[in-house]
Amino acid sequence: MNGSYSYTPGETDVPISKGLVSIRNLSKKQIESLLDESDRMLSFCRRKDKLDNLGNKIMATLFYEPSTRTRLSFESAMQRLGGGVIGFSDPRSSSVMKGESLADTIRIVSSYSDVIVIRHPEHGAAVEALRNSTVPVINAGDGIGEHPTQTILDLFTIGKEKKKVSGLNIAIIGDLKNGRTTHSLSYALSLFGNSLTFISPKELAMPDDIVAGLKSEFGTDMQISDSINDAKDADVIYMTRMQKERFTGKEDAEAGMPYYNINAKFVSESRNNVIIMHPLPRLAELSPEIDSLPNSVYFKQASYGVPVRMAILDAVLNANASNA
Ligand code: NCD
Repeated sequence: MNGSYSYTPGETDVPISKGLVSIRNLSKKQIESLLDESDRMLSFCRRKDKLDNLGNKIMATLFYEPSTRTRLSFESAMQRLGGGVIGFSDPRSSSVMKGESLADTIRIVSSYSDVIVIRHPEHGAAVEALRNSTVPVINAGDGIGEHPTQTILDLFTIGKEKKKVSGLNIAIIGDLKNGRTTHSLSYALSLFGNSLTFISPKELAMPDDIVAGLKSEFGTDMQISDSINDAKDADVIYMTRMQKERFTGKEDAEAGMPYYNINAKFVSESRNNVIIMHPLPRLAELSPEIDSLPNSVYFKQASYGVPVRMAILDAVLNANASNA
């Protein structure tokens, strides 16, 4: 599966009571309120409290692609909010193997659950799910499209570490063509007024339509480079892996050979207080020798997945309740 479901930009323009299919669903104010709420959820998590906000709700996780952090943090978040969880993490165990369409699966699962969290290899799959669902849909990654909940947790991490989410110089590095986390993140960072440096092999550059959109919508200050040395002046380095499973041809594969690496020497040549982030999984692009440096926040970032997804589930499902 390497195709896409087409949709018009207007189709992603839905209220939070219908879910979160694109980072564009959220206004700056809504993102700020999710960040505040995530902080509150973090204190509940630290106290190991179990809440009952969603005690009568069931979340379905439909994961058509591998996942560790996203699925497990969603499931942990739902259980900490008192809700129930159903779903599959391997489509081979579902009727997808019998040839069932995404639309039919969604129709059925939306009659079994109160919210659907979907990860799928095809761009636009979350919008296709939304079209066929009677319950809210949350996009947990649609092919090379978007990963909006990862963006909220990335912003939350930046806010925790830097005490602000605007006016920063942020280098985003790796496979920017195929890396959906970088697509949603660039939009949100632009919305909050940050400067961006996109660093990738030329063949795997941030898609032109995304760059042009950020320029025209926000006038974002952007640099484009293929040299990792251009990250040395950044306040935040957001590293990503080469998305080998999404490479379409020999050119991508050659360009995506082990290319960028951050090691202790690189960190010592960067800004003193730079933070290094990564959505994980990391491959060779982050040397394990930097794991214990105070600059390396990627494991902390992953741990924020639970409180941030608690805030998102609560916002989606309680918005729904108040509209009912
Ligand atoms: C990312 C994804 O699935 O897009 N992983 C994640 O959700 N933390 C990044 C990746 O797979 O490279």
